[in-house]
Parts: sequence; structure tokens; C-alpha cells
Amino acid sequence: MNNLTPTSGSAFAAHRASPFDAAFAQDVLTGLSHAHKSLPCRWFYDARGSELFEAITELDEYYPTRTEADILQARGAQMAARTSPGSVLVEFGSGSSRKTELVIEALPALAAYIPIDVSIDALADAKMRLARRFPSLRVLPVVGDFLTPLELPIELENAPRLGFFPGSTIGNFTPPAARNLLNDMGHLLRGSSASGPSPRLIIGIDLQKELSRLIPAYDDAKGVTAAFNLNLLARMNRELSADFDLAHFAHEAVWNAAEGRVEMHLVSTAAQSVVVAGQQFAFADGERIHTENSYKYTLTGFHKLAQSAGWQVLDSWTDADSLFSVHDLVFTG
Ligand code: AVJ
Repeated sequence: MNNLTPTSGSAFAAHRASPFDAAFAQDVLTGLSHAHKSLPCRWFYDARGSELFEAITELDEYYPTRTEADILQARGAQMAARTSPGSVLVEFGSGSSRKTELVIEALPALAAYIPIDVSIDALADAKMRLARRFPSLRVLPVVGDFLTPLELPIELENAPRLGFFPGSTIGNFTPPAARNLLNDMGHLLRGSSASGPSPRLIIGIDLQKELSRLIPAYDDAKGVTAAFNLNLLARMNRELSADFDLAHFAHEAVWNAAEGRVEMHLVSTAAQSVVVAGQQFAFADGERIHTENSYKYTLTGFHKLAQSAGWQVLDSWTDADSLFSVHDLVFTG
């Protein structure tokens, strides 16, 4: 049997009954104790944060989502031409699986779609929606992080594997961590079917561009991204009995040219002290909490990264304004 269904129902039930998450508490207490305060960006995505992120993807200033969807739509036939019928599509961090519909639509008869996500609710919603739109598609959700091992039903063990990692989510990782992740994904996709066809990966990568275009995507006029960033403080208030005064923190998005990344910070606009889970933290006026990195690549920069992780580039596509890119890779590493 496979264990593609949630493995620990009781753990999830406990999680829902109480929002307290020990891993969140640990990351917060550690991150706020650093000389340069920081928090891992994965904690943005509670229910409210996920809602705000969805709103971000619809902003005029936030070009990645719609640009990537346009590229996927335009290049579907080219992706499909390389894909054998009976392939298994594996999505890393599937969320709502909205963009996946464009890919499923384009590809010849998939044997199965395997969405991997930490949110059991997102997986359930996606499965329901996909079942309605693609009644004959086998959907086998996996609850877990990107590298949760696949345990495919025996009849799918030798099916060709096609990974899907859209949204420039890999931009949250430093280049060395991104290289490791890409290599791990290759091995995960290859699994035990080492004799079968080499796995492929369709990946979305945001591109370096002029700051007049880039910064507003992370600091929009309506303040949705600011609310998304500040929600991290609100989440600590809700779940960790923190007492952040959101009126005394400001959203900031800056380009770090040396690192090739947009950074988001929360800036303390006063000298203040805050209690989180019973511990006190002092903030100087102007002191920042670093909340996110979003790396941006050049086409050649990403090609080098992919190759160093064992992936060869079959194709790369961009939009007319070179805002965003989608790459079709094959794992030879
Ligand atoms: C989900 C990581 C791709 O970096 O653009 C959007 C997250 N942060 N606005 C990105 C995000 C602020 C997004 N990723």
C-alpha cells in the first residue's frame, strides 16, 4: 500500500484544536535572539497569511503570478511534446494548485497528479476542484514538505516523473540551499526507478529587472504586501501570546544588489520592548526583523545553478518583457 494519504490524523486534529506550534515558537525565540533579528518566511502562511498572499498574486504590481501563467499557457504544447502519456506529475508546494490546471490541461493523459503541500486543507480543496475539472485524473496528495519521500502505488513505480515547482518559490532559498534542494528534488523524483526515463522539472524563476518594476511588487500601493509582512507579528500575538503593537512596526522592501535578492523587513519605528511566549525582546528605534529573501536570477545565472545541481536545461521561456521565466529541465545528476 502507499501512504499518500495523511499519516497522522490525530496530530492534525490536535494542531487544529490549538494553534500553538512548538516549531513556530522555537523559530521565533531563536530568530528574535539574533543580533540581526530574523524570522523564517515559511511562517507567513497561516490562514490569514495565505489569504493575503492570494491577494498579492492579484495585485497590478505583482507581475510574477500572471506572467508565469501566461508563459505556461503559451508553452504548454512544447512541454507536452516532451512528455510521454502515463507520466506522473509531482508538484512541490502545490498550495491551491491553480497554475497546475494549465499544465494538466496541456499534457497528454497523466497517470496521476501528486500535489505535495504542508496544508491538508489546501490539498483537500485542490483535490475537490481538480476532481470536478478533470474527472478521470488520479490525484494522490502528499501532506509534507518539499522533500517528503514519494511512495507511489506499485503500478506507478515505473512511470516517467515530471516535477513542477512554479512561482519562483525557490527564490526564498539562498543559492547554495537552492542547489541542494534542486538536487534533492531530482533524486526524489528519480526514486527507485533509476532505470526508467530521467525525471524532468518545470520550474518558474523570477528575473532580475529594473528596481522601478521590482520594488513595487513587494511594496504595493494598496498595502497588501505590508499587511502580509505585518501579519507575522499578528500571528505571534495570536499564537504565542506576544504583544507586538503593529502600529509601531513598518513594512520595508529593499533590493540587496550584492546578494541579488529583494529583502523584506519589519522596522521598529520606536524604541520598544515586546514579550513573546513569556520572553522579553528589546527593539531599538529603526531596528529591523528580516522576514524574507526573494532571490532574482538572470537566465544564465539560473542555468548555472541548475547545472550545478545535476539538471540540464532543455528549454527556457520568458514573456516579451523578460519579467519572469519558466524552464524545462532534465535530471542527469
Ligand atoms: C511565494 C516566495 C514566490 O517571493 O515573490 C510575495 C512571496 N513575498 N510578496 C515571492 C512574496 C512578498 C513570493 N514567493
